[in-house]
Amino acid sequence: EKGRYDHFMRKEISEQPTALAQTIEGRIDASEEGEPIVTDGSEAASRGDSVSTPGADGVSLEEFPPGTFADVSAIQFVACGTSYHAALYGQQLLARRGVSAQTFRAGEYAMSPAPVDDDTLVIGVTQSGETADTLESLRRAAEGGARTLALTNVVGSTAARECDDAMFIRAGPEIGVAATKTFSSQVASLGLLAERLARDVADSESEDSRQLLAELSTLPETVQRVLDETQAMEVVDRYRAMDSYFFIGRGVAHPVAMEGALKFKEITYEHAEGFAAGQLKHGPLALVTPNTPVFAVFTGRHTDKTLSNVREVQARGAPVIGVVSEDNREVIDTVDAALTIPEAHPDVAAVLANVQLQLVAYHVADYLDRPIDKPRNLAKSVTVE
Ligand code: M6R
Repeated sequence: EKGRYDHFMRKEISEQPTALAQTIEGRIDASEEGEPIVTDGSEAASRGDSVSTPGADGVSLEEFPPGTFADVSAIQFVACGTSYHAALYGQQLLARRGVSAQTFRAGEYAMSPAPVDDDTLVIGVTQSGETADTLESLRRAAEGGARTLALTNVVGSTAARECDDAMFIRAGPEIGVAATKTFSSQVASLGLLAERLARDVADSESEDSRQLLAELSTLPETVQRVLDETQAMEVVDRYRAMDSYFFIGRGVAHPVAMEGALKFKEITYEHAEGFAAGQLKHGPLALVTPNTPVFAVFTGRHTDKTLSNVREVQARGAPVIGVVSEDNREVIDTVDAALTIPEAHPDVAAVLANVQLQLVAYHVADYLDRPIDKPRNLAKSVTVE
């Protein structure tokens, strides 16, 4: 039921704090209730000792105890659409922990799979667990001897049943064709899974990853703060009748830019594209005019480089909407409009920025009176190749 909302999509955007709380529940070790573990206890840290809190492993995944992935030497992600963007995010989390992974569009992988052996872990990221291309990719990988893992929202789905392992994102049912809360729950799940993989595969743990886990444990409240903002509606009022909409970002902001554009085109029917910010001058810049707003996603990493891309498009007359931390004055003062997010770890900031972009897409589609929950030509689950 939609309750007080006009659309399931809007309801599901609002449900993200609850969905995220379910995703992380019991999966992040905490020193005391509500408090995430930082493994160097403060007293010991002040003495300069390095201490592991007894029993604290950072993540506690019932389905994947420590050592589960000790035999894995290569990781591949296969996914489509929004789930592909979540997988790209997961790949970057792993890379920063010294674990290399590759991400493939499942429609391509199913036709020409990458080489695998029995030390390869192939992770299918699929909300529904029923996407034909993703299932076919997982089957091809299994035929090649790989171990397969389904990261999915649906218990009992084909992917969950067919794969060697499954991790459930626990976002609750998603009705709107546009994936919203499941993207947030996928990336939070990938944050947890990346931690287990990094420790098992590369014996890697770091202050940065502990910080990320700490912030993941409070993500429901942080997302709620973004949802309490009304900036997206104000931005939409200013920039809603334009030729095209571009989305740019670097690092984890790149998959968020692509996801922002996918959501936008899917439900507004307006032309939108997401680019790696550094790619602009290799072609897309030719499209930039005063009638092509550019959404620039900032996470706290690569700020100077993305700002120089912002100036490039502003020089061509394009209005820039920055999605940026509320205390980043330099960016806020440079862009033409800002959608602010709470100060956060860059990998968390990416999730928060995505929530702002979901709201932008929703409000534009609503203004244009589109059938938001069932966009033309699209299905919630794509069960044909
Ligand atoms: O169920 P899946 O995650 O495998 O679905 C993959 C895509 O079809 C899906 O994410 C699609 O791109 C969404 N409609 C985007 O909002």
